[in-house]
Amino acid sequence: MSSWIVNGLVAALFLAASTGVFFFVVTRGALLLRGLSPGQASEKSHVYPIYSNMRLIKLVDFQPVISAILLFQYNRLVLKIVQGLSQSDLKDKNVLVTSCAFGNVLPRVVDAAVRGGAARVVIADLIHNELVHAQSKLGGYSGKVDFIEDDATAMKRPESDIAANVMFFLLHELPHNLKAQALREAGRMLAPGGKLYLAEFHRPELWVLRALSWTYFKVFEPLGLALWDTHDPLDCLEEMGGWTCERTTYFFGNFQIITATKQ
Ligand SMILES: C[S@@+](CC[C@H](N)C(=O)[O-])C[C@H]1O[C@@H](n2cnc3c(N)ncnc32)[C@H](O)[C@@H]1O
Repeated sequence: MSSWIVNGLVAALFLAASTGVFFFVVTRGALLLRGLSPGQASEKSHVYPIYSNMRLIKLVDFQPVISAILLFQYNRLVLKIVQGLSQSDLKDKNVLVTSCAFGNVLPRVVDAAVRGGAARVVIADLIHNELVHAQSKLGGYSGKVDFIEDDATAMKRPESDIAANVMFFLLHELPHNLKAQALREAGRMLAPGGKLYLAEFHRPELWVLRALSWTYFKVFEPLGLALWDTHDPLDCLEEMGGWTCERTTYFFGNFQIITATKQ
């Protein structure tokens, strides 16, 4: 093998390994350290530094990186939500986005909601820096959007005043006991007929993908694996009752969008 191929392979391996180490340090590694340090756990203890440290937020939030993390399915997932919003009657109603997310999902969701005639779009997140960062992406909609520091599992909003709620890859990061709580809160805030759009990971159909995905969760995001079985969001919603749900899966079942309509 010629030396430039070997050098190329070594460089690619080094890049992949450093990327893996970086993401481990700013996600699970930091949480493990946090767990070892003295001091009380708070409602923010499960949040990774990549969502709280402004330098890290700005470093990581690049569309190609975020699309790659979601195996280039990001656009399809966001499109499904945006199409759902566009087909709903949002005139003079409120739309909620429960927690910020990287990439262009926020501008696209806000744009769809505003075009649909929504009175206000509320973006709620536990972390102030995430809201500041989200604001920087939504300059054009400043009069229409409220940025609220709030906890998805105990929201301050009143009952039934939301027509649509978008929850983009939040559940897999929540401790298990809070996953169903966040869904209950979503149900409480939705008006009858309102829709919850839930984007999440799902148990892949192909065993190769399942093995890779399992390894990813075990290393980086152990709270996510429960979505495959014990905390399947569709099962949780159906157990809760009062919802009509439809699930679409993507990329050999690796991702899902659940559209849940409150009865
Ligand atoms: C939606 S999740 C991850 C999204 C996905 N990995 C991405 O960025 O594409 C990350 C966001 O959830 C927020 N978050 C975590 N726990 C929360 C809670 N209980 N209530 C509201 N926001 C929360 C974090 O602050 C962060 O902004």
